[in-house]
Amino acid sequence: MSEAAFINSENTLPRHVAIIMDGNGRWAQQKNKPRHSGHKAGVEATRNIIQECARRGIEALTIFAFSSENWKRPKSEVNLLMELFLTALQRELSKLHKNNVRIRFIGNTSSFPEKLQKKISHASDQTAGNTGLNLTIAAGYGGRWDIVESVRAIVDEVKAGKIDPNDITEESISAHICLSGIPEPDLFIRTGGEKRISNFLLWQLVYTELYFTDILWPDFDVSAFDQALNAFSVRQRRFGRTAEQIETKLNNGRL
Ligand code: FPP
Repeated sequence: MSEAAFINSENTLPRHVAIIMDGNGRWAQQKNKPRHSGHKAGVEATRNIIQECARRGIEALTIFAFSSENWKRPKSEVNLLMELFLTALQRELSKLHKNNVRIRFIGNTSSFPEKLQKKISHASDQTAGNTGLNLTIAAGYGGRWDIVESVRAIVDEVKAGKIDPNDITEESISAHICLSGIPEPDLFIRTGGEKRISNFLLWQLVYTELYFTDILWPDFDVSAFDQALNAFSVRQRRFGRTAEQIETKLNNGRL
C-alpha cells in the first residue's frame, strides 16, 4: 500500500467507492407505487452517480446490482430486474464508452438470461481498453462466493504444481479474488438505513471506511454523494497504526 493512501488529508477524494444501493422498494412503497418503479428510479440514481464519479476523477466505482441472495426474491421481481439491467446497458453503453468508462462485471451470471449475458460480455469487451473510471457491476455476486472461487483457483495452481502450499499468503488470495488489480475500496456507502455489509466485498473491505445513510437509493443524488465524500474526507485512516503515528506522519511527511 502506498504511503499516500494512509491519510485522507493527503488525498481527500477516495480512489475507489463501493456502494450497496438499497431502498428502491421502500421508495416506491412510500409513494404508493409498485416496486418496479422504485427500481426504475434506482437506475436513474445509478446513472447520475456514475457520471459524478467520472466527473470528479474517482478511479473506481463498484456497485452491488444483484446479490447471490437476490435470487430468493419473487420470480416476477427477478425477471423485472434482469430486464432493467438489459435495458440500462443497451441505453447507456455507448455513452459510457464515449466517456472512457471501463465496465467490468463480477459474480456468477451463468443463470442470467442469455441475452443479458451476451450484453455483459459485449460491454466488458467493448470498454476493455478504456482508461477512465473503472466501473464494476457486482451481479450474481456474493463475498463468500468470491473467497471460495479464489481458494479454488489457488488449489488448482497447487495441484498443477505452480505454487507450493507454504507460499500461500494474503497476497495470493488478493491476487485471485474479484477486483484484484484495482485499489481496495476506500469508501463504502450503503443507502436505505440498514447497517450491514450483506455479503458484499468481504475480503476487500477490511480497511474501507464505512458510511451508512437513511436516504433511499432513488433519492441518493449528487448532494447526498457530496455528504458521503465530505464525511470520508475527515476520517482518519490508521490501517492498524496509532493516531500518534499518523499525526507524526502528517507533520513530518513520513512514518
Ligand atoms: C435495492 O432495493 C436494490 C437492488 C435489489 C438492486 C437493483 C438496483 C438497481 C435497479 C439500480 C440500478 C443498477 C444498475 C446496474 C443499472 P431493494 O429492492 O432492496 O429496496 P428495499 O430494501 O426498500 O426493498
